[in-house]
Amino acid sequence: MKRVYEKPVINRINVGFANKVSGKAFYSSRVRDNIDGVPIEELVEKFGSPLFVFSERRLREKFRNFKRAFETRYPNVEFTWSYKTNYLKAICAILHQEGETAEVVSEFEYEKARRLGIPGDRIIFNGPYKPLPALERAISEGARINVDTFEELADIEEIAKKLGQKVKVGIRINMDTGIKPQWSRFGFNLESGQAEDAVKRIASSRWLELNGLHCHMGTFILEPKAYEIEVKKMVEFAYLIEDNYGYKIEYLDIGGGLPSKNRLKGIYLPPEVAVPDIEEYAERITTALLENLRPGDFPKLVIEAGRAIVDEAGFLITTVYATKRLPNGYRGYVLDAGVNILFTAFWYNFKVEVDRPLRGSPEPSILYGPLCMNIDVINDLEYLPPLPRGTRLILSPVGAYNTTQWMQFIRYRPNVVLIDLEGNVHLIREAEDIEDIEGKERLPDHLKLN
Ligand SMILES: Cc1ncc(COP(=O)(O)O)c(C=O)c1O
Repeated sequence: MKRVYEKPVINRINVGFANKVSGKAFYSSRVRDNIDGVPIEELVEKFGSPLFVFSERRLREKFRNFKRAFETRYPNVEFTWSYKTNYLKAICAILHQEGETAEVVSEFEYEKARRLGIPGDRIIFNGPYKPLPALERAISEGARINVDTFEELADIEEIAKKLGQKVKVGIRINMDTGIKPQWSRFGFNLESGQAEDAVKRIASSRWLELNGLHCHMGTFILEPKAYEIEVKKMVEFAYLIEDNYGYKIEYLDIGGGLPSKNRLKGIYLPPEVAVPDIEEYAERITTALLENLRPGDFPKLVIEAGRAIVDEAGFLITTVYATKRLPNGYRGYVLDAGVNILFTAFWYNFKVEVDRPLRGSPEPSILYGPLCMNIDVINDLEYLPPLPRGTRLILSPVGAYNTTQWMQFIRYRPNVVLIDLEGNVHLIREAEDIEDIEGKERLPDHLKLN
């Protein structure tokens, strides 16, 4: 066999611990030539690059493991799908088939859930801005509302009067659980007494009734202990309400925020080490419940987990378009996927796999997207062997927040496919074209050029 010349690479050693990055390790652990048995090349041939690929198998497995972790520890749990995390119909439908209700934060998310066939009483309506018509519809269809502001309470009171019926509400509260920065802009603050003021406001109205508490602390929370504190404070507040205001708190909604196995920028340990398992969260949360609830009292535990369920079910296939040597010696690659479709690249360095074994020593590399914008960086430091033009990279996990937060900016958004349990590939969102970009635009007559 003819030996191919391999150019030597000299890497500057920066101060720090040695690591085990070597060509060999790369070959063995980073080659992925298929997703759920479907060859990468076949996917690209049929659906183009870049391409989002979701695995139905992984999604169902992830949800079932998550569900099992909680249901084996506490008798009354509701899992509700956070639409904003991923509201592709096919993804929501899978999770609804698995038994999840819908958690929405806008009228259009609400409409999406209704169109999928979810009845109002299986929808939880959250968020700081609920326009009156949306609120009215949700209430008349029996949706559960977690109130965020005093203004919203007044709006609901008016709706209740109009409907001639008392309306049950939950309130969103925020609190110090040790997580920094504290998300104090949503709901009513517990420690300042504002949350109790909201209870008093409800108690002063003959149109309102309080039956639930909601708290969503933040996202990608790596500290299970924070949930323990959250749950304890929620239970204590629920009993203060029951004892002093006579309302039975029927549900404790702890929000989402549980992490996926993704690599947050700045954390150099691999996610397998840095991210605690879901079992640990489940154990802390349910132990805090059982230790603090009164005997025989099992209010519904509602969990709105988003990224922990869907992130790892999503991959993005992208292709190397060009490469160049940067002045600092690093290698830069231009890919066909950028932050326009991978919004979460601002916070995470994804796992990078390649579709074929590669020659050469790994060297520090930066993955850029195709946008003519300096911020378009997908991974800011990866040790990769030289990637020839046309190499497919498979980035993961990318199932959470990307196909909702992606932007219609400079480039069309690509196809999204789902691989079902039998290995069949379904197009679940078609790539955009010029009609999608211009369809809603209007050009005044006096500006027409021909
Ligand atoms: C109210 C609420 N619930 C649930 C979620 C889902 O969060 P995560 O994806 O971190 O689990 C969010 C996301 O921001 C949220 O705002």
